[in-house]
Amino acid sequence: MTTHPPTGSPPPPTVLPPESDVFPADHRRPRMTGRVVFVTGGTRGIGAAISRSFAEQGAIVAAGYGRDAEHADQLRAQLRDHGVDVSIHQGNVASAEDCRRTIAAVIERHGRLDILVNNAGITIDKTVLKMADEDWYKVIAVNLSGAFFMSQAVLPHMIERGTGRIINISSIIGEIGNIGQANYAASKSGLFGLTKTLAREVCFLLAKEGRLTEDSIGLTINAVAPGFIATEMLEHVPEKVLERIKAQIPVGRLGRPDEIARAVHFLASDYSSFITGAVLNVNGGQEM
Ligand code: NAI
Repeated sequence: MTTHPPTGSPPPPTVLPPESDVFPADHRRPRMTGRVVFVTGGTRGIGAAISRSFAEQGAIVAAGYGRDAEHADQLRAQLRDHGVDVSIHQGNVASAEDCRRTIAAVIERHGRLDILVNNAGITIDKTVLKMADEDWYKVIAVNLSGAFFMSQAVLPHMIERGTGRIINISSIIGEIGNIGQANYAASKSGLFGLTKTLAREVCFLLAKEGRLTEDSIGLTINAVAPGFIATEMLEHVPEKVLERIKAQIPVGRLGRPDEIARAVHFLASDYSSFITGAVLNVNGGQEM
């Protein structure tokens, strides 16, 4: 017979069994020790949180940046204080040449590349009727073409090894659109199509070579779609608008960069071996 607590008293908290009862000892955490990760735009904001999170998990971190050398120096110094040596790679992701050069530099420096996070992104917000040709092309070039050329550059290496992870940082705006962000929304929606197509293509290529094995952690391509996250990207948004945004988020606050990093970490881990071509929404429950 079920016993009920007296009316008014809160139910007892649900307690998870000790970790050791749930996972075998050597599988307790999705570990990253020795894995090489390259995070584009990995020196500030969400990218820096991703770089730090991988460093904490024991990965070998390479971080890219476009022009902001100051944040790159800061991240390097911060991680060095924790005994971690991060390699920094300058390059414009809007340039196919730079994408090929930086991927080659990371592989040359670290001997391999296990995880690519296409995080670099920009906004140039204007309503459609005011948007200059250059505003459109620039945002598409950085946010969408950058992820394409980076992935294209790294895939031969990953396909040859039969394993790897590519994680594209999209946005909730790619799902719902936003006034003044036609270029940004299109670039972020484009990442969904790119992610799903790359996911299928790599499986097709591996299968053709008879290299899709049951026990491999696989070569997966996924996207993370953050909601509104407190970074410099939102600094120019007026307080009133931010309040309106928060009112639409069920958890009642903006996300933190490390909350995106945790989702990326999961998709990069061995635990996500059966997830590919997926979009993981990390947005505090915001409706799409
Ligand atoms: P951020 O502006 O703080 O960082 C952007 C990073 O991209 C910087 O490290 C910068 O060096 C790099 N970058 C920009 N243009 C580049 C180029 N041409 N070549 C190489 N690197 C370049 O922005 P934040 O907020 O950290 O955003 C990171 C990613 O997350 C972006 O893709 C953004 O679209 C996405 N995102 C951000 C959200 C937010 O609310 N902050 C929400 C949803 C997605």
